[in-house]
Amino acid sequence: MSIELIDLQPAVADLVQLVRDGMRARPRQLPAWLLYDAEGSRLFSKICEQPEYGLTRTEIALLKDHADDIARTAGHGVVVEFGIGNARKVDPLLSTIQPPAFVALDISPSALEQSLTGLAGSHPNTAMVGICCDHSHLTDLPEHPRLNGQRRIGFFPGSSLGNFLRNDAVRVLRQFRQLLAGGPLLLGLDQPRDPTALEAAYDDAAGVSAAFARNLLSRLNRDLQGTIDPQRFAYRAVWQEAEQRIEMALVSRCEQSIELAGETWTFQAHERLITEHSLKYSPAAAADLAAAAGWRIQRRWHDRDDSFSLHWLEPAD
Ligand code: AVI
Repeated sequence: MSIELIDLQPAVADLVQLVRDGMRARPRQLPAWLLYDAEGSRLFSKICEQPEYGLTRTEIALLKDHADDIARTAGHGVVVEFGIGNARKVDPLLSTIQPPAFVALDISPSALEQSLTGLAGSHPNTAMVGICCDHSHLTDLPEHPRLNGQRRIGFFPGSSLGNFLRNDAVRVLRQFRQLLAGGPLLLGLDQPRDPTALEAAYDDAAGVSAAFARNLLSRLNRDLQGTIDPQRFAYRAVWQEAEQRIEMALVSRCEQSIELAGETWTFQAHERLITEHSLKYSPAAAADLAAAAGWRIQRRWHDRDDSFSLHWLEPAD
């Protein structure tokens, strides 16, 4: 069965405005999805293999171990994944649910194409549809004959919801509720644990996390005719206890001016540009979050250390 790619990528003009807004904010911060160009997606896959970053391995093991139970809970329908990141996660679900179609939403066309090509080989009876978009702002799926009249089963793994601040996370979960049109959502969330281990997970010894963050600057240079020297920024990942999150930032090593899309921005020495946050949710915090967005958590699968959970969400009414 063929793979279909639908391009709903934001235009370059939107990118200029997004970067301008982020540079004007204090502290400066850019949306996390900008990290995922082709090189960023490649580096993120490498992060997932680092010994300090156990999240992906733990989640894949949970998905494999509980695939039958999850499939029984899910029932029949089209599977919709928010962010294709690592196709190994959805693979066991596609094998057990055997949906007529799999819809993957991701900002990176290369990640979509690569993942869907791999999945198509092992799931010949499932139509593969990739939608290249910022899924945190998509309000409905495009018309497609394989989706019409089908129940939708959402899948949002990898604790990617953690990359949104709390209010945005509520907005995104509400929007997924609308997009799934009454269907359930399987949501993977990382939990708070030892701060030293968490900081190491986001600043690995091999320097892959640092390269991933610095690649954002290379991407801005390319897409917005920028003049940034990525090496003039240090990388830092810090656990913020009150907010239950890791903050990742590039910190200017000196006072410097950079240009992006014809505009000049000055950084003070030590000034930070936040590249992303990664919020961690205890089971109680996850239940609060779900309730605030109109969902109810019906089931939870977790690892032996209870450090990561797969939550089964149903619309609350
Ligand atoms: C995609 N997301 C859930 C990752 C995380 O753990 O917050 C992104 C990441 N950034 C650096 N390391 C991992």
